[in-house]
Amino acid sequence: MNRNPHVAVVGATGAVGIEMIKTLEKRNFPAGKLTLLASARSVGKKLKYRGQELAVAELKKDSFGGIDIALFSAGGSISKEYAPAAAQAGCVVIDNSSAFRMDDRVPLVIPEINAADLKWHKGIIANPNCTTAITLIALYPLHAAFQCRRIFASSYQAVSGTGAKAITELERQVEQVVQRQPVTREVYPHQIAFNVLPHVDSFLPNGYTREEMKMENEGRKIMHHPTFRASVTCVRVPVYRAHSIAISAEFERPVTVEAALAVLRKAPGLDVIDNPAQSEYPLPLYLSGKYNCAVGRLRQDCALDNGLCFWVSGDQLLKGAALNAVQIAEELIK
Ligand code: A2P
Repeated sequence: MNRNPHVAVVGATGAVGIEMIKTLEKRNFPAGKLTLLASARSVGKKLKYRGQELAVAELKKDSFGGIDIALFSAGGSISKEYAPAAAQAGCVVIDNSSAFRMDDRVPLVIPEINAADLKWHKGIIANPNCTTAITLIALYPLHAAFQCRRIFASSYQAVSGTGAKAITELERQVEQVVQRQPVTREVYPHQIAFNVLPHVDSFLPNGYTREEMKMENEGRKIMHHPTFRASVTCVRVPVYRAHSIAISAEFERPVTVEAALAVLRKAPGLDVIDNPAQSEYPLPLYLSGKYNCAVGRLRQDCALDNGLCFWVSGDQLLKGAALNAVQIAEELIK
């Protein structure tokens, strides 16, 4: 791989695409050139990168000649349509959608956990689901130390996970409620302002949503743990940015809070904020814009043997998407 690769961001105008551009700049990624791609609607738009205004071009099948790395975040259908063509053109695709995550030929990577899987990529690398990534940043080190059998979890997911339109929807609805006007909705099936929706992604025949099953399916692949089980309820909350997850984990080996804290304090990409007496625990508002996720509220689970309860928060646009993708790109040019 070229040490100064030509990088493309596909979906550059979206909530994640914008964070990808900012993350490349902030981490001083040594891109030789940056190309910004989106739909025909965005042609003519300009986005800032390293003090320059870069024009957005229309994504086309032949957009990838000469591009070394393409960060895709324009939705699963766009990835399915364009990522194979990009890979064929010799570009390495890092795909943020769910399109290829469970494909046996595609590594699914969180660099802090399974960077070694990057070795066997064949042109497409998948970025994990955001809630799964934030959970595993805390769960994996505990699994490595105590062997996780299963988890029960509930998520508290920010609207920016749905994209730029959902951020506008929450802003508009808050304004409408405050102004005592009728609340209008376009993105979610119900009002999201001053409400919580136990519904993220579409429902499956087993009654779980697709988002909920990603934790078990992607968790197994990333942790190389084929018997890992996860029963999850994913909830959309009126938070602009950063997801949180309440987790009860059961381990094969006995685990204490002290032993778990010792493991988590050494874990990469993770801060421990756990001082409940001073009301100190991870909060999505304060983790917005941060690279590290944070874990707290550690306690022995009172309903599970060898069980531990904890709370993790992290910026899902960063660790759950843009940052993880840029970290993968950094691994590729190492
Ligand atoms: P555009 O702004 O031109 O519609 P979000 O997840 O925040 O909604 O962002 C989705 C991203 O995917 C945007 O950058 C959007 O570009 C891009 N996108 C959506 N549809 C297409 C398409 N048909 N071709 C290329 N990019 C697309």
